[in-house]
Parts: sequence; structure tokens; C-alpha cells
Amino acid sequence: RAIAGFHGAHQGGVLGSPLPAATFTAFDLTVTGRSELSALLHTLTDTLRAQTAGGIPAPVGVTTTAGTGILGPDAPGNALESIVGLGSGVFTGRFGLQGAKPRRLRPMDTFANDQLDPAWCGGDLLLTLQSHERDVVLSALREVCRATRGAMQIRWKQDAFTAPPRPSGAPRNLLGFKDGIAGPDTTDDAQLRKLVWSGAGEPAWAAGGSYYVVRRIRMLVEFWDRVSTSEQERIFGRRKDSGAPLTGGTETTAPDYTDDPKGDAIPLDSHIRSANPRTPQSADSQFLRRSYSYDAGVDSVGNLDMGLMFGAFNNDLDRQFVTVQKRLADEPLADYITPVGGGYFFALPGVRNARDFYGSALL
Ligand code: HEM
Repeated sequence: RAIAGFHGAHQGGVLGSPLPAATFTAFDLTVTGRSELSALLHTLTDTLRAQTAGGIPAPVGVTTTAGTGILGPDAPGNALESIVGLGSGVFTGRFGLQGAKPRRLRPMDTFANDQLDPAWCGGDLLLTLQSHERDVVLSALREVCRATRGAMQIRWKQDAFTAPPRPSGAPRNLLGFKDGIAGPDTTDDAQLRKLVWSGAGEPAWAAGGSYYVVRRIRMLVEFWDRVSTSEQERIFGRRKDSGAPLTGGTETTAPDYTDDPKGDAIPLDSHIRSANPRTPQSADSQFLRRSYSYDAGVDSVGNLDMGLMFGAFNNDLDRQFVTVQKRLADEPLADYITPVGGGYFFALPGVRNARDFYGSALL
């Protein structure tokens, strides 16, 4: 798919489907004071705008070289998408921004079955970078680190990816199921206003932003790979080969629960039915999912360490993400996954033009 442009009312990376190469990097801010924060967000904007434009990077203060050179003398243009989000720690006394905090923003809640490692949680600023090529992502990350040295430092980082269609449709996650099928229609502005973009009830500066939930969820793949396909399918409620709901049709057919009130075909506690029971009341809790796979090597006892970088965009954390996460508390899938990290962030409104910068309406 085509790469979204850098300028607009919303950050371009939010609506597009996940790209093959991504990196999630959470930073802690080391600046103090509003004007230093403003300078940091200007620098971040300039760096990401330039990285999206491609060409030859301009020199910055800390070095005399014209960039890291990872992409050669003439970097590709329109190859990068970025999403910048702020954590609740920014809206505190150190910047005098207590009154400007998005209403629901707070440190990530701990849910049933979570085994959160503080080293993989939180951060003041989350930068998600994505591209068709990994070197474009790493070039942008290196340029950001180079330009913002002294103003923020990395807290955690996870590389992630999406698979190509196998054989078609949504990419498969590392449990072998197509992931990213159901959700709001990203071409329907009314739905996006209702479910994704901030507006009513939030500070005026936040309009056009979105609460961005990231969860680093480990998959216990050795255990999962011993489970029969039919049992795996009942855990999700969809076919493993085609992605179709167990009530029939194709990947894009909406599951019909009215014909299956007792859950004979799609169990009541299956992942898709618990997450979205498709009742009139549950329509309000839908949100936009943007998830990637990750591979983090091998753990200390020799088990494969891989999983899902789950992402969700919503305009009311509690009505949407938290409600759905609580509905999933006792789902059978919980035996095969362990949430280990992540955070709640607020994806900033878009950078509107060449003179605008991230958070301009906030500062
Ligand atoms: C749907 C996998 C975690 C919410 C799905 C589907 C799969 C899947 C295969 C069906 C295909 C699709 O519609 O995309 C996983 C895996 C997870 C995980 C492997 C963890 C490792 C979560 C979490 C949430 C969530 C943490 C929310 C708190 C949903 C929702 C749907 C869904 C809302 C769509 C249901 C519908 O509208 O039919 N997930 N998921 N998932 N998942 Fe997950």
C-alpha cells in the first residue's frame, strides 16, 4: 500500500494497515521546563519530516556529518510512517501541563493474567516507526536519537513485523491465525469520529488525536504448537486456514451470533465473541486494532520468546479498550499468552503543514 503523507489533521500512520517493518521505542524525557519540551517536539518533528521526505539529511548540532548514512547519499522519499504518542508523565508539574492532560490518560492498568515487567512498561513518549523496509525504520530511529540526545533517552524498544498475505487477506500472527480483520471502517469518517478521534470532553488541543494502547504480549508458542487445529479454532472462533468465522463464509464475513445463541459453532468464550459479542450495547466498545508480531530471541530457560505488539486506537480508553480487555479476562486464549509490557499513550493530532509541529496546540 502507499505510504501516508507526513502532514494532515491526523498522524498518517494511524489509519493505514501495519507495514512489514516496525519499531516501537518508548523514551523517558530528560528535559525540564516547557520551552525545552517545545524545542524537543520541534526537533522531533523536523527530523521525522525530513526522514519521510528522504533526500540528504541536514547536519545537526551534535555532529558535523550529514546523517547516519544508513540509507546512502540519497535516502528514499515517502518510505516511512511514524506515530508519536505522549504518556501521562508529561502532563505533570515539571512542564506545568497538569490541566491539559487527556481525561483518561494514566499509567497502564494491570489486568488479570498480566505479568508486567516494569522495564517493558510506560515511557513519556512513544515513537512507532514503520516502513516496507527495516533499514528505513532504523535510519529514522538513529536520526531521532542523534537529534534529541540530551533531551530524552530510550526506556524500551521492540522491533516488530507483519507477515505477507499467506495466501491472501490479513497477515497471520505467530499463532498462525489471520489477525486484523474485524474493526471500524477506516474510510468512514463518522465511525472514526465515534470510535477513534478525540473530540468532545477532551481538552481542545487534543482534537484529532487518539488514545494509543500498546501491549507487549508474549505467546507461549511451544505450548500452543501442541494443541490441535480444531481446538485452536474454537479458542479464536475463526478458521485457521481461511480466517472465516466458524459460522461460515469467508474472512470478511461478519460472524452471526443470532443463529448461534448457545455458542455451538462459535463458543461464547472464544476470543472474537468475548471481544465483540456484537450486541447493540457492545458496538460502542469497538476500536481500531493495529498489531504486529515480534521475535525477541530465546529466554533464560531456552524457550522461544515471541509474541504480539498489540496496538489499539480509541477515543475513550475506559469505554473501549479497558471494557474489551476486561471481557477477555477468562478467555481460553489466556492460557497461551502472557502480557509482559506496554503502556497508555496519547497519539498527538497530526502535524498540519511545514510550519506546524507535534503538540503545537498543547504548548
Ligand atoms: C480479533 C488474535 C489480543 C481484541 C482477533 C482475531 C485474532 C486475534 C486471530 C480474529 C481476526 C480479526 O478480526 O482480526 C489475538 C492474539 C492476541 C490478541 C493472538 C494476543 C496475543 C487481543 C487483545 C484485545 C483484542 C489484548 C483487546 C483488549 C480483539 C478484538 C477483535 C479481535 C476487538 C475483533 C473481534 C470482532 O469484532 O469480531 N484477535 N488477539 N485482542 N481481537 Fe485479538
